Amino acid sequence: MILPIVALGHPTLKKVAQDIDKDYPELNVLIENMFETMYNAEGVGLAAPQINKSIRLFVIDANPYEKYYPEAKDFKKVFINPQIISEEGEEWYFNEGCLSLPDVHEDVARKSKVLLRYMDENFQEKEEWFEGVLARVIQHEYDHLEGVVFTDRLSNVTKLFLRKRLNDIRGGNIRCDYKMTFGKR
Ligand code: NI
Repeated sequence: MILPIVALGHPTLKKVAQDIDKDYPELNVLIENMFETMYNAEGVGLAAPQINKSIRLFVIDANPYEKYYPEAKDFKKVFINPQIISEEGEEWYFNEGCLSLPDVHEDVARKSKVLLRYMDENFQEKEEWFEGVLARVIQHEYDHLEGVVFTDRLSNVTKLFLRKRLNDIRGGNIRCDYKMTFGKR
């Protein structure tokens, strides 16, 4: 089932999300619906707050990046209760976008490696380093669990430049190919 994606300005995007446990109701259905929603909107990652659930869960399918980033091939994963243990490496810029901010794309600086502790869809605990574009997508989705969107990381000048577009998104004055929920009415 395709779920509506919450837009910038919706209060759920500002919350710090909560851990879940194995008993979370119909988790498999939720995960399936999140992948379906993400593919429908042509995204590579989707965090639960973006479908209005303030829980620590995100899904990633980085395959669309495969052409330029070989590490992205067949990278399809579910991350439950993730925790960033460490971020290392040089900061690099990558042009990010977000399904909650349609048609906004800006270069964001982040470190190149991330050590993540998380559970997979079977609640198996893992601790792994991710690099390159995979680290990037994980850092972006992880931010959503902390109530942060990528535009929060831009310079004040860039934010000023984007102000009208961001206000249009907050107010629902945009056209978008997928279904969205707006915070302000
Ligand atoms: Ni996003």
